[in-house]
Amino acid sequence: MSIIRMEGIRKIYDTGKVKVEALKGIDLDVDAGELVAIVGPSGSGKSTLMNLIGCLDTPSEGIYEIGGDNVAGVTRDQLAEIRNRRVGFVFQNFNLLPHITIVENVELPMLFGGVAVRERRDRAVELLTRVGLGERLDHKPTELSGGQMQRVAIARALAMNPDIILADEPTGNLDTSSGTDIMSIFTDLWKAGRTLVIITHDPALAKRASRIVEIRDGRITSDQRNEEAA
Ligand SMILES: Nc1ncnc2c1ncn2[C@@H]1O[C@H](COP(=O)(O)OP(=O)(O)O)[C@@H](O)[C@H]1O
Ligand SMILES: [Mg+2]
Repeated sequence: MSIIRMEGIRKIYDTGKVKVEALKGIDLDVDAGELVAIVGPSGSGKSTLMNLIGCLDTPSEGIYEIGGDNVAGVTRDQLAEIRNRRVGFVFQNFNLLPHITIVENVELPMLFGGVAVRERRDRAVELLTRVGLGERLDHKPTELSGGQMQRVAIARALAMNPDIILADEPTGNLDTSSGTDIMSIFTDLWKAGRTLVIITHDPALAKRASRIVEIRDGRITSDQRNEEAA
């Protein structure tokens, strides 16, 4: 079953003086249970593609469906609703709130999603325990290492049980060893049946994905299954 279906996707940024065509016709289907790495040089359109997949932005042209929901022509509020229900985000800079505890950080999407207070806490504790932070529930992000902060971000991404986990350079601010640990959490989630799309320019990480999509100058230039996924 397709979780993501893109056909003829173009994205043009119109900054007034100049128009930048960041995506020039992307066709991309992602099935449930895939771990897709998106690779490509800086400026090739990776983050633009991630913003579209994650319903943070809408395409200038083309068809986009996520989980069967058509994104074309929806209002800002409807887009936000689709995003909250279907996508869990992991960012390079973690994007945690520094002055609240990590449990509260993981609870936040559930607060916005209307989950009852008791269930929010139980689920946040369970997810943080699963990523190895069960002993640090009342710590604040500022008291943690980069690798630990990224674990919190992954727990938060899982909080609303999304159809897809989207990560943009999730190891970009980590040392090699923490980066490898974070990638192992992603591959474990994949083995447990999750669908993930990870943008990375690190070939060692991309090699662990089940599929590697290369993008250059706004176009997909290579799209291959990877038998060595792990
Ligand atoms: N908000 C924006 N406004 C104008 N141009 C943008 C914007 N975001 C990205 N771009 C341009 O679109 C192209 C692709 O950028 P991006 O998707 O960030 O690439 P990548 O993530 O692969 O480095 C680049 O030329 C970039 O300068
Ligand atoms: Mg980028």
